Amino acid sequence: TILIVDFGSQVTQLIARRIRETGVYCEIHPFQSAAAAVAALNPRGIVLSGGPASTLDENAPTIDPAVFAANVPILGICYGQQALCMSLGGKVEAGHHREFGRADVHVEKPSALYDGIWTTGSDHQVWMSHGDRVVSIPEGFEVVGTSPNAPFAMIANEARRIWAVQFHPEVVHTPDGAKLYANFVHQICGIQSNWTMSAYRQKMIEKIRAQVGRGKVICGLSGGVDSSVAAVLIHEAIGDQLTCIYVDHGLMRLNESEQVVTMFRDQFNIPLVHVDASKQFLGELEGQSDPETKRKIIGRLFIEVFEEEAKKLGGAQFLAQGTLYPDVIESVSFTGGPSVTIKSHHNVGGLPERMNMQLVEPLRELFKDEVRVLGRELGIPDSFIGRHPFPGPGLAIRCPGGITPEKLDILRQADAIYLDEIRKSGQYDKIWQAFAVLLPVQTVGVMGDGRTYEFVCALRAVTSVDGMTADFYQFDMNFLGKTATRIINEVRGINRVVYDVTSKPPGTIEWE
Ligand code: XMP
Repeated sequence: TILIVDFGSQVTQLIARRIRETGVYCEIHPFQSAAAAVAALNPRGIVLSGGPASTLDENAPTIDPAVFAANVPILGICYGQQALCMSLGGKVEAGHHREFGRADVHVEKPSALYDGIWTTGSDHQVWMSHGDRVVSIPEGFEVVGTSPNAPFAMIANEARRIWAVQFHPEVVHTPDGAKLYANFVHQICGIQSNWTMSAYRQKMIEKIRAQVGRGKVICGLSGGVDSSVAAVLIHEAIGDQLTCIYVDHGLMRLNESEQVVTMFRDQFNIPLVHVDASKQFLGELEGQSDPETKRKIIGRLFIEVFEEEAKKLGGAQFLAQGTLYPDVIESVSFTGGPSVTIKSHHNVGGLPERMNMQLVEPLRELFKDEVRVLGRELGIPDSFIGRHPFPGPGLAIRCPGGITPEKLDILRQADAIYLDEIRKSGQYDKIWQAFAVLLPVQTVGVMGDGRTYEFVCALRAVTSVDGMTADFYQFDMNFLGKTATRIINEVRGINRVVYDVTSKPPGTIEWE
């Protein structure tokens, strides 16, 4: 195991991804609990992440002595490098030139960190993002690489097995970064690749059996990847001790509910209760146009309906959830201040603890991309595993303003045509999320010889790595034109199509 000590960098999770890609397990822990993490994990190597603080600040985060006492190889990144220097007797100062973006490091000397990857005298593209910089290094260290604005870009104490770099090897803009991490974990820390999804599957099956015994488990399915993979894995472990509940809120896309139900029942033989609660949801949503009100109604109803079904089934002590590692990682907090709620999220993971059941969370250690690999391993079709994310409140938040069954129907048809065109043109996998939005606006048009007065449909497509930030996707104009024509010709109720060119921030991905 590798321990990643988090100093709050935006890209700490990428360090974990890069290490896991080498087939080695790792965990992220905040710098405040580094000592406990060292004791619990007994790591064979430690990475110190970057972070937004300045080591020159009064209350700057520091490296817990337990990190050094572990006596294993250490790799410091950016703030991690500066913190290492402060801890071991070097010096950091506020940079005169902030260095942000692409830079080149020049390799001055050989080092175990890039042995077999970079040779002395060569230059390599890296990604820098720092204000402060190291100006004098601790005793026993030597400079092994430089960059124009960071004369201490790479430093090493080979005898003590400590390396530190000013740049970020975990981001894609450092093309050799993944190789550096592989070198660190395999060559320097001496860890073999053994973190695979087939091993994880076996381990989890044992764990689920041990936890559940002869007990009964219920699982709320959303139709999304996480809850589906969790359900299939649990079913493999305990068979029909698992029952899935699919609360159909009537806000799914065209034919989507049928697909989910068929896949679970027919392909995987998993007992599934399909609760058609669409009347109840649409009834309570009637006349509601405020986004937060809509979200709250859906979230509350979902829990009510789910609880009622669970009660009917009776006797289950366990509730399964598709919680992922990013939801579990304890975040580093400097200010502790409350953050603003942009949208109150609803998903099946949000079932309340008041249900008084023990949780079964077999994906708690996994990143999203690992869940996808596990899902394929379990035989879930690629077409399902590779689907774009879909929000818990479904089409309700893609129908700004009031919702009616008629509007949902129009939206479903437009959305299906849009996605069909995207798939046919081979662009689906290049896009993070694509969907249609039905605006509560009617405009005048002319079709044949007649005047029309119908709804506007907005198309949205974005690229993103995690949904936190996003760019609008650059379609070819011909593609948009062709798709718009199809929608207007084939969907009664829409006579105008527009494309959303807002990135996030300042927009959000969904419209509500
Ligand atoms: P926004 O619109 O906030 O969306 O930029 C970011 C990502 O989250 C999805 N999303 C949700 N997912 N329950 C979910 O499970 C929700 O209530 C919800 N709201 C937004 C959205 O589709 C995008 O992928």
